Amino acid sequence: MRPEALLAAAEPFTTPVAAVDVATMDANLFAMQQRVAALGWRLRPHAKTHKSSFVARRQIAQGAHGLTAATLREAELFADAGVDDILLAHPPVGAAKLRRVADLAARLRRLAVSVDSVEAVAGVPANVEILWEVDSGHHRLGSVAGRTTVPAVHRLVEAVGIERFRGLLTFPGHVYAARDPAGVASAAEHERAALRATVDLLRAEGIPVRELSLGSTPTIGLRDPAAGAAPEVGDGSAAAARTATASDAGIVIEARPGSYVYGDVQQVALGAMSQDDCALGVVATVVATPAVDRAVIDAGSKALAADVSVPTVQGYGRVAGRENLLVQRMSEEHGVLIAQGSSGLTVGDRVVVIPVHCCTTVNLHPAVLMVEGGAGWWDPVAARGWQAATSGGGA
Ligand SMILES: Cc1ncc(COP(=O)(O)O)c(C=O)c1O
Repeated sequence: MRPEALLAAAEPFTTPVAAVDVATMDANLFAMQQRVAALGWRLRPHAKTHKSSFVARRQIAQGAHGLTAATLREAELFADAGVDDILLAHPPVGAAKLRRVADLAARLRRLAVSVDSVEAVAGVPANVEILWEVDSGHHRLGSVAGRTTVPAVHRLVEAVGIERFRGLLTFPGHVYAARDPAGVASAAEHERAALRATVDLLRAEGIPVRELSLGSTPTIGLRDPAAGAAPEVGDGSAAAARTATASDAGIVIEARPGSYVYGDVQQVALGAMSQDDCALGVVATVVATPAVDRAVIDAGSKALAADVSVPTVQGYGRVAGRENLLVQRMSEEHGVLIAQGSSGLTVGDRVVVIPVHCCTTVNLHPAVLMVEGGAGWWDPVAARGWQAATSGGGA
């Protein structure tokens, strides 16, 4: 990111301003596309990070093979933006969601949902394909990988028919508990092992698995280590894909990284991206300097994400270009910057904070200032919320 470009574009506006350096974002889209292609995978980015039609179109233009969505509102907005192949990676439970799934399926070329129970497919229309989620260690959704999953998938196939069973999905979200590169590699290895064991057993029982859907930004890594710029952290997943591709000709592997679009302090801490790769910054104004090592900015927990998972991350954001500063504490509209030594800040200064978590930071803002060629324009974070855009509850 070029913080000075974000500061210049945000100058006319009241802070806090969530701003994106589009050149940096584009470089990230390109790098991940290259990385995934080099592995022989397809990219289906998780668009919950940006919730933006502009970024969604940009990902497709770069070669993404459709998008992943977490909510129906995201899926609907991306469908409106012209994306015709969507994976809803969240069980669509309940009549209200099922009505929207049916409407979506009618206007998309391809729609799939992931589930981990047969109950969750009741009412899902016949033109929607199904992925079964296995738990690779995150312990959120997913059946226990391996033997336990086989009878469950048998029941699924009985319920929906073999032709609608697309394959297996897993999310190695426990990577966010990693303390070092070994922890990242081990989460990627759990992911590989979970899929591997389950695919082999299903195939032995005559159940074809057409697709494996995997990944997170940390377990993939933004850049190919062969290019020299990337940490080794993506290697576990990369090896998984090579193994799976070699022995399972015909299985498509799709990667669903989300955070790579913007990056954040957590991705940097896990070695998945560099601080220079971070495209999103929250521009904030110093409103007080009560002590030489303390300054207060106008961005608190209503402008900067407060959910930190990575145990080695301290505070709620880093200040771009000022390595000695940390957002140590937040209240709703105040962020407390603590400096090692003097903060060097005076009242009225503006700073660019790289948030700890880009996805939840973006979700706090109605629009993001996209900074391109020295100018900024407001891109609505249109897929925030859960209701259909037409319902009046989602604006
Ligand atoms: C199901 C699923 N897939 C993929 C991702 C993308 O992960 P990341 O933002 O770590 O790249 C997430 C993130 O929450 C997820 O929940």
